[in-house]
Amino acid sequence: MCGIVGAAARHDIVGALLEGLQRLEYRGYDSCGLAVLDGGAIRRLRTTERVADLRAQAAGLQAGTGICHTRWATHGAPATHNAHPMLSGDAVALVHNGIIENHEELRAQLQAGGYSFDSQTDTEVIAHLVHSVYRGDLFAAVREAVRRLRGAYAIAVLHAAEPGVVVGARAGSPLVLGAGDGGHYIASDALALAGSAQRVAWLEEGDIVRIAPDGAQVVDAAQQPVQRAWHPLGAYGGATELGPYRHYMQKEIFEQPRAVADTLEGIGALDASLFGDGDGALAQARRVLILACGTSYYAGSVARHWIESLARIPVDVEVASEYRTRDSVPDADTLVVAVSQSGETADTLAALRHARALGMTRQLAICNVAGSAMMRECGLQFLTHAGVEIGVASTKAFTTQLVALALLALTLAGQRGRLDAQQQAEQLQGLRHLPAALQAALATEPQIMAWAEAFTRKPNALFLGRGMHYPIAQEGALKLKEISYIHAEAYPAGELKHGPLALVTDEMPVVVVAPNDALLDKLKSNLQEVRARGGELYVMTDAGTAIESSAGVHVIRLPEHYALLSPIVHVVPLQLLAYHTAVARGTDVDKPRNLAKSVTVE
Ligand code: M6R
Repeated sequence: MCGIVGAAARHDIVGALLEGLQRLEYRGYDSCGLAVLDGGAIRRLRTTERVADLRAQAAGLQAGTGICHTRWATHGAPATHNAHPMLSGDAVALVHNGIIENHEELRAQLQAGGYSFDSQTDTEVIAHLVHSVYRGDLFAAVREAVRRLRGAYAIAVLHAAEPGVVVGARAGSPLVLGAGDGGHYIASDALALAGSAQRVAWLEEGDIVRIAPDGAQVVDAAQQPVQRAWHPLGAYGGATELGPYRHYMQKEIFEQPRAVADTLEGIGALDASLFGDGDGALAQARRVLILACGTSYYAGSVARHWIESLARIPVDVEVASEYRTRDSVPDADTLVVAVSQSGETADTLAALRHARALGMTRQLAICNVAGSAMMRECGLQFLTHAGVEIGVASTKAFTTQLVALALLALTLAGQRGRLDAQQQAEQLQGLRHLPAALQAALATEPQIMAWAEAFTRKPNALFLGRGMHYPIAQEGALKLKEISYIHAEAYPAGELKHGPLALVTDEMPVVVVAPNDALLDKLKSNLQEVRARGGELYVMTDAGTAIESSAGVHVIRLPEHYALLSPIVHVVPLQLLAYHTAVARGTDVDKPRNLAKSVTVE
């Protein structure tokens, strides 16, 4: 959601703060702001424009202590008076990521104590709260203040009387500590610190940190001093460079062969140790429950088909926000799998904790961020190696999640004697061919661009698929609506005649995922149903399907690929279709309206 950065250094940190903020802008971009200590006074800049505007406002500004923020609005409209940092008097400046649940109660108490409020945000409550308990030591004041907060937060605070000090705290929202030459930093994501810190330490739930040019002190939730492990920051170098691409989404679509190859690197055999399982947790599971949101949910939905058909284990896939509020029937012999690019999605985290509270403690996280909350909370982990994904629309994270889930399905199948060693080796070989197949799928881009021209003028689109390609149709529809703002729906093709066929006219483009599989003949009948009503068909198919282009039927043939992995190949043209349609419509592809990359609020 929001992004925060703070710095205390012997040198000027304004450039580093702004660079860090730029790197986090994809997290939320309703407004942004900065506060620095300038000659013992707080200087604050805010804008409802992008970070580039803040940078222009900050021209010539220099300071050694500062905090900044890019906002995804929760409490209060995206307006300048609601932009962070929030001030309390001329003493405290504070930025916040998360939601404070008891903000109304605290606001009333603070108002009774004489504080007045300039914004509708829950954040201003924290700024006043810190101010109200400040007795000459900001670290102590923040420790006191956060004891009274309920909800999720990562904060960074400075005080006019304490130049060279920034205090941070986290509970429910991520915060990372960074160390560089002559300075220390805090940020909601290590990516923000790639230009300034050499090493980072992920703070734990409940940690409070005080940074200064020469050092950093951390106390844990019990207020005891702790050291968090340092890690080198090398992995993020170049992640935010666009190179020859026009948008991060385009870059990330084209990075998929590399991302998949990296995720498969070093995997010599299919066994439980791939998932950090040393005590038979996978082998003992009698059911699988996959919890995820959005695109990650569709990855889980494909995996259901793989796990059930290969390993013969029953699988439930649940939208995390629904699962955690549903009165479900737990089974302790379940392997719970959380799928999440960020590893910080609040709904998925809450669903995992809910499952744990119900006695389902065998938990596996499939994430793209090593130190994320889900990776730390689950006993089993698989790290995808997509690299940093900046476009809000998830692409390479999705395909690498599918690779991880395919490995899981094959491993579970091997453990249950459904695949012998030879068959497992063949399947792994199929996976190794995937980067080449993805590269060939990317070569369909010129044809897709021609299709995108037609989609640009359409208000609606339908996506159809069957079996394990139905979630791919759903993902294609999500991509299109998310970045082009064209209303798109996906249906299992067999459902068409049960309602949505009523929508089909010659104005309705119908995108069909039509691989050469056992369901193809049934799918062809569904295509006839659309054509008979004048619907224009856009079909992604494979070699040898005898589906040909004709009036009202546009066909793209995908390269040869291994059948089981067909969903991973077939999603590529759908990503390209959404991307080029959005570009043609002139939308902000990497930062679609109302959305944010990492949804850390419920
Ligand atoms: O970080 P996560 O994978 O947990 O995020 C889940 C969804 O918010 C995410 O996949 C979202 O649907 C994407 N923006 C879709 O492109």
